Amino acid sequence: MKKDLRSHWSLRKLMASNGMLYPILGFASCVALIYMSFGDLKLSRFPREQRLSFVQRNGSQFFLDGKPLYVNGWNSYWLMSHSVEENTRPKVSAMLEAGAKMGLTVCRTWAFNDGGYNALQISPGQFDERVFKGLDYVIAEARQHGIRLILSLVNNLQPYGGKTQYVNWAWQEGIGLSSSNDSFFFDPSIRKYFKNYVLSVLTRKNTITGIEYRNDPTIFAWELINEPRCITDPSGDTLQDWLEEMTAFIKSIDKNHLLTIGLEGFYGPKSPKKSTVNPEEWASALGSDFMRNSNMTHVDFASVHIYADQWFHHLGFEEKRNYVYKWMRSHIEDCDKELKKPVMFTEYGLSDQNKDYQPSQREQLYRTVLDIIYKSAKKKGSGAGALVWQFFVEGMAEYSDDFGIVPWESPPIYKLTVEHSCRLARIQGLIQENENFKQLCSKREES
Ligand SMILES: *[C@@H]1O[C@H](CO)[C@@H](O)[C@H](O)[C@H]1NC(C)=O
Ligand SMILES: *[C@@H]1O[C@H](CO)[C@@H](O)[C@H](O)[C@H]1NC(C)=O
Ligand SMILES: *[C@@H]1O[C@H](CO)[C@@H](O)[C@H](O)[C@H]1NC(C)=O
Repeated sequence: MKKDLRSHWSLRKLMASNGMLYPILGFASCVALIYMSFGDLKLSRFPREQRLSFVQRNGSQFFLDGKPLYVNGWNSYWLMSHSVEENTRPKVSAMLEAGAKMGLTVCRTWAFNDGGYNALQISPGQFDERVFKGLDYVIAEARQHGIRLILSLVNNLQPYGGKTQYVNWAWQEGIGLSSSNDSFFFDPSIRKYFKNYVLSVLTRKNTITGIEYRNDPTIFAWELINEPRCITDPSGDTLQDWLEEMTAFIKSIDKNHLLTIGLEGFYGPKSPKKSTVNPEEWASALGSDFMRNSNMTHVDFASVHIYADQWFHHLGFEEKRNYVYKWMRSHIEDCDKELKKPVMFTEYGLSDQNKDYQPSQREQLYRTVLDIIYKSAKKKGSGAGALVWQFFVEGMAEYSDDFGIVPWESPPIYKLTVEHSCRLARIQGLIQENENFKQLCSKREES
């Protein structure tokens, strides 16, 4: 498996070295050339002529072309930033291709970069066309590799701008009412900034494919905001109100795509589960509420993150793993019984900076997460998928964090990932009809 991937990696290197042709031939014709010459290598799983369908949901399941869909996927937040310049684009292609080779079908990534270096949005409503072309490239390239994208629209946290940047803009322009970072949620001028941003992204016409983002089935879903918290209003009303307005706004522009919030999954102050399932007291005072927020009409599926090692410091690994089991089971139960929507665990990971960290713990934790998804999927339950935080490729240590993995450098993780992709493909009946899964999974059955 590893060897197989390496040989593809050198193909990417070859393509990378062809990069100097890009300025002469133009990017599109260069891609066409490469596809003509390497067409027999099945680099593409979504042939260009093939009509793609949008992912849909009915009740607590995702559907694609009328069949239930379960997701094994990953996070690579850096795809757009590496698509701005030609010399880093091969990393994006390599990651998407490697994902496809592991049978992964969905990648979650940032469709924002507000202010700062290589910003997409330079100032409110002002875009850097070079960076937008980078995002065009991410989407076009994902399609070529048969990967769908979950695109997140803003960060609650500071990296890549986030709500702090919006607040600073409003403050600089003299229209901000408060310097609180949470004025992102309650200030009417900042709400307008954000809506304007959303409108520009959703109606962007991709310069490579010619498809408006809102009409492009390569996009699995929009994610409104990464890990929203509004600690200045622990009642949760402020965030709820913002979510109501923004989810309705997105649906007024784009009815094709699924929409999720991007929550961490904590239960709010009125929820009985705040004391039985939340990690600790603080978690119900962040201004978010998994049940109340996810129950909104325009939210198609629930999202949850899993960071037991960040939420508890005094627990050992086994206790954290038991907690992960409880945390996931609880949210799947909520979605099966009350919300009647799919739930996607859009980030899970284990920091290598934990005091008692051992590399084998990652595999154990990932296995726990993936087993729960598999069990739910087998019963046609709401546990619809999980996305690991985070994968990257060689030579980008500065983009990693305590959670980053180059998957082919970690054979147990690589193997587990492929096995999970194959068992999900099997219950979806994909092995026979999809050439990629046929090759990937029949090989595994022999060995
Ligand atoms: C959704 O599922 C229900 C129950 O399985 C079925 O009756 C209904 O036709 C489905 N709706 C659509 C739009 O597929
Ligand atoms: C807003 O958030 C930033 C980044 O976390 C922080 O530096 C700043 O102090 C915050 N502003 C206020 C008014 O709390
Ligand atoms: C979700 O909304 C429905 C309809 O508004 C309501 O009946 C139900 O109680 C809500 N459920 C939760 C868990 O908030």
